[in-house]
Amino acid sequence: MLPLLFMTIKPIKPIKHFLQFSDFSLAEFEHVIERTRIIKHKFKNYEPYHPLRDRTLVMVFEKNSTRTRLSFEAGMQQLGGAAIYLNTRDSQFGRGEPVEDAAQVVSRMCDIIMIRTFGQDIIERFAQNSRVPVINGLTNEHHPCQVLADICTYIEHRGPISGKTVAWIGDANNMLYSWLQAAEIFGFHVNASTPKGYDIDQSLVSASNTRYTLFGNPSDACEDAHLVTTDVWTSMGFEAENTARLQAFDGWIVDAEKMRRAKSDALFMHCLPAHRGEEVSAEVIDGPQSVVWDEAENRLHAQKALLEYLVLGKI
Ligand code: CP
Ligand code: NVA
Repeated sequence: MLPLLFMTIKPIKPIKHFLQFSDFSLAEFEHVIERTRIIKHKFKNYEPYHPLRDRTLVMVFEKNSTRTRLSFEAGMQQLGGAAIYLNTRDSQFGRGEPVEDAAQVVSRMCDIIMIRTFGQDIIERFAQNSRVPVINGLTNEHHPCQVLADICTYIEHRGPISGKTVAWIGDANNMLYSWLQAAEIFGFHVNASTPKGYDIDQSLVSASNTRYTLFGNPSDACEDAHLVTTDVWTSMGFEAENTARLQAFDGWIVDAEKMRRAKSDALFMHCLPAHRGEEVSAEVIDGPQSVVWDEAENRLHAQKALLEYLVLGKI
């Protein structure tokens, strides 16, 4: 019989975190993607599935969210567990409690933690002091849960992504860095086009990554792509740069003309929220090649598989 102190919280050992896309191997992603398919099927068939009964997810938000909060909170409930929402405004997170102390306390009261914050260093420090797995729900540098859902969505619509070309048109932001890590793991290629002055920060890309090509012209980056994707020109935390960015990104809209340069059956994705008329035209995001609603829904299914894997290990 275990001492009472250890009875409810039994994380896989050593504790596995998902702080950036490269934290998982291809085999781990293949497992999570297959579980996503199975868990989604159960959900669509109203089949109860409660492997995380009596488990608790704590979600810490230092930036706004609709999809990430909703998908983690609904997902945890659907798996039989509970989700608790904390934000900077009304918790001690906004009042300067050291992140290391917060991690010690939060991780003694739950089974898994999701954090959305600013610098990647914050989530790394939190994870180093956590007794339970920590998931990155978006930092300035990475958004791995979104790219996991995007890859699930691509596979659902078109089959394996290995060997394919993904065109990234826009800012060198958290989404792009997660796509670049995914390209190395899954073996696809990223054609990235970012405006001058908003180039990729090479310190955030592995030196061994040969799975991307940089394009000065965004239309050229779309040539023969299997998937065209973009994101807002101004990410959360960079709002002061908005006016300058609107000018610098002129021409980086994903419109019908750019989609015509891609494969005729190319998909369009956007992590959302989107600004029609800025990074994407209404014609494209609301058009037949767009899978943005499936992409948003798959956050739910993919993260349920991720929660299951991080709390219980391979099922
Ligand atoms: N795509 C995404 O992460 O959306 P939210 O900011 O609404 O969570
Ligand atoms: N790159 C965007 C993604 C929002 C989901 C941001 O960080 O604000």
